[in-house]
Amino acid sequence: MPNKACVRAHTNIALIKYWGKRDETNFLPMNSSLSLTLDKLYTDTMVVFDEALPQDFFYLNGEQQGEKETQKISKFLDLFRAEKKTALRARVESINHVPTAAGLASSASAFAALAGAANLALGLDLDPQRLSTFARRGSGSATRSIYGGFVEWDMGTCSDDSFAVPVDDAGWDIGMVIVAVNQKAKEVSSRIGMKRTVETSPFYPAWVESAKKDILDIKAAIAAKDFIRLGEITEANGMKMHGTMLGAEPPFSYWEPDSIVAIKTAQALRKQGIPCYVTMDAGPNVKVLCRLSQAETIKAAFLEHFTEDKLIITKPGKGIRELTEA
Ligand code: DP6
Repeated sequence: MPNKACVRAHTNIALIKYWGKRDETNFLPMNSSLSLTLDKLYTDTMVVFDEALPQDFFYLNGEQQGEKETQKISKFLDLFRAEKKTALRARVESINHVPTAAGLASSASAFAALAGAANLALGLDLDPQRLSTFARRGSGSATRSIYGGFVEWDMGTCSDDSFAVPVDDAGWDIGMVIVAVNQKAKEVSSRIGMKRTVETSPFYPAWVESAKKDILDIKAAIAAKDFIRLGEITEANGMKMHGTMLGAEPPFSYWEPDSIVAIKTAQALRKQGIPCYVTMDAGPNVKVLCRLSQAETIKAAFLEHFTEDKLIITKPGKGIRELTEA
């Protein structure tokens, strides 16, 4: 049995958002979501299960992590240990490959890479759908990072059938320009933010209803390779999600003044006939969905307001894969 494996997983950006759980223990979402996996941002994780280890150890970017972080990893690895019926402890080494100054480290690529590496290291042979249900238990958005291109996370009916499936490889002139607005630590984590929204925002039920329609519409747009429709649905869905937060008690928002500058820049580009559409997550960064062939032109327009190091052009990324040592 191999007891060591190293896996790369890319992060993903939701075009139809996951925002709210119907079951917090099992990370079951209130609605299905759909994302684009990105090439530039990824995590490489090595897992070694070893009977000589007295406990789990977790290193992130070369630094040993404290008790709290390591416990999160241990709890996640327990799912794999239970499946394998083993008590072996592990050493986990993760490297986040995120362009400097972007502040875009993501739990999606982190838990997808860890799930992939634990699966291989324990010789569990989980198929991608099953693996996706395991990744989900680390962080909801990790469910989708198992695959490349456009990916749908079907909300399912229970823990076993709430997994992601690939929709399209996004190889039809699709790109994303990330505008890294600032890197201050978030005041409200996505986990807390979505919980507060579900529990207190009167807009929340309307969000869930409209997300059901958005997912059908965006899949139709992808099937038709209709970029304009894809972008319109993406931008509207993201705005609706942020709207639910303004209705929460207490209300909150992830937007910063520069987020609005970025949104207005994209709107101005559209008026000039360059289609590009924005989406934002639980932070102030703005992601601009565009045609890859126009990404440089779009970046040039953003350079009027943002410095070069804050602008990252990325194309669609692949699903998880094993890294073999050179
Ligand atoms: C706004 O996956 O970070 O990015 O499941 O609690 O770990 P947990 O939340 P997380 O939430 C992601 C929220 C989002 C939208 C999305 O990625 O779909």
